[in-house]
Amino acid sequence: MTKIVVFTGAGVSADSGLSTFRDADGLWANYRIEDVCTPEALKRNRPLVVEFYNKRRKELLSTKPNPAHYAIAELEKYFDVQVVTQNVDDLHERAGSTRIIHLHGELMKLRSERNDNIIVPIEGWEQLLDARAEDGALLRPHIVFFGESVPMFDAATKIAAEADMMIVVGTSLAVYPAAMLVRYAKPGVPIYVVDPGNPDTSMIRNPLTHIKARAAEGMPQLAEELIEKR
Ligand code: APR
Repeated sequence: MTKIVVFTGAGVSADSGLSTFRDADGLWANYRIEDVCTPEALKRNRPLVVEFYNKRRKELLSTKPNPAHYAIAELEKYFDVQVVTQNVDDLHERAGSTRIIHLHGELMKLRSERNDNIIVPIEGWEQLLDARAEDGALLRPHIVFFGESVPMFDAATKIAAEADMMIVVGTSLAVYPAAMLVRYAKPGVPIYVVDPGNPDTSMIRNPLTHIKARAAEGMPQLAEELIEKR
């Protein structure tokens, strides 16, 4: 069965109403990364960091998957699909995708500040400031902050190296090591990019097709074509 890796970023959830990071109205236009998305920020100003993720979690609870998420889930009926996402939302899961690697963590989970292996789902949107894990340490968002390692990247590269096709949806390809994933596709493996903007595809050496469209339009069209000609 043809193996497809679908590599997604914030743009795949933009049509669900969630902000991207680097578009004009993106999250990083309204917050400083060093204030809300670094280990130092969590130490220096824990309430602000917890509030930032509480706000994003609250927004996520009132959001739903869009046609792009559903088209990606639909591909699983015809292909061996692995989603590798930089997104921390759970919209791929809610759309029905069953094999998902979250490179940058998950908004609907918290973890012990002392033990990365103690990960707990959060009920609702609010992490209370003094909430503690079973090991007694304070809980923190289960998010990969800037400057922290990306533990799932190695597994993702191994899966990318086995792909017969890669679809890149809604990522500027600006953040490393995640963006390097496109380099792990074997030479000759076709790469499709679905993005209305201009992500940095300069490091892509493979046959590249850029579908300049919003994910909610471009992804269902691409899925339909791939299913028809499979
Ligand atoms: N459909 C498809 N793509 C879209 C849409 C849309 N409706 N709207 C915007 N885009 C594209 C933009 O053109 C851009 O290429 O989505 C991409 C969004 O890029 P970023 O905002 O940089 O988001 P992302 O690539 O996911 O960021 C990577 O950076 O801040 C960190 O951890 C954070 O996971 C995030 C990482």
